[in-house]
Amino acid sequence: MTENPNPPKNEWEFFPDELESVLDEIRARPELLMEIPWARIFLATARLEELKNEDIRTFRGHRETVAKDVVDYNIESMRQNLGLDRVDRLIGPLLSIDTIRQNISDLDILTVGPRTEAELFTLLGLGFAADRIRGLDLISYNPLVDLGDMHDMPYDADRFDVIVVGWTLTYSKDVRRVCDEIVRVARPGATIAIGINMNQYTLEERKKREGDSFLDATYYKTTKEILDHFEGKIAAMIFHHDVDPAVQPTGELIVIFRLV
Ligand SMILES: C[S@@+](CC[C@H](N)C(=O)[O-])C[C@H]1O[C@@H](n2cnc3c(N)ncnc32)[C@H](O)[C@@H]1O
Repeated sequence: MTENPNPPKNEWEFFPDELESVLDEIRARPELLMEIPWARIFLATARLEELKNEDIRTFRGHRETVAKDVVDYNIESMRQNLGLDRVDRLIGPLLSIDTIRQNISDLDILTVGPRTEAELFTLLGLGFAADRIRGLDLISYNPLVDLGDMHDMPYDADRFDVIVVGWTLTYSKDVRRVCDEIVRVARPGATIAIGINMNQYTLEERKKREGDSFLDATYYKTTKEILDHFEGKIAAMIFHHDVDPAVQPTGELIVIFRLV
């Protein structure tokens, strides 16, 4: 068999008519763009580039247990478009859970520490309803994100069916209190999804290694350490991803479970 001397530049050359139909459909229903990871990030980035500092609301009346300079550090990180795709790795597996996939538009979901709109766009793309999504953060520029401290969540008990906490627990020096708040605002049987960077170093080692960028906050080596904060309150484990330091020195811890 001989190779095609003029291979197509990309696969769309095989079906140009279908491509036009796809684009027509997107023009008619632009909300479909939320289902495309690349488009979500493009949109979130474009919105950030337009964002003026005076449009960013902040909550600085938080507890002492919040790591130092968290608000300014996160506004700076947001301006650098850091981590816009990360939370997809945490939220994506939620669709594998039958009870979530089958009822998605009827579920109340809270995301703790979304920082940007990228996370909200992911939730919309998966099928969560806009009027059932809340974000909670110390910074906000979207009406779906409430200002407040995760150590004292401004919500009634039994309020949410799903709670996502993506790379936010690090900023607490009292994670047990945050976890108690998660359990309080979650409905019985709620699904909790937590993602956080694994860090194998001790506080002293980190101070030495990180120098000026050292953040006085909380890190974990295993998902078990996170789950210990929910002892006696977990009905079922759904997913967990740990990092083997013998294979890789750093990585992400992801854990999804159902509360009693
Ligand atoms: C590293 S960002 C995570 C952004 C996004 N969830 C992700 O996975 O990339 C952490 C977010 O948590 C917020 N945060 C930190 N401490 C908080 C607190 N005590 N209460 C509410 N939000 C907090 C920060 O403002 C920031 O937006």
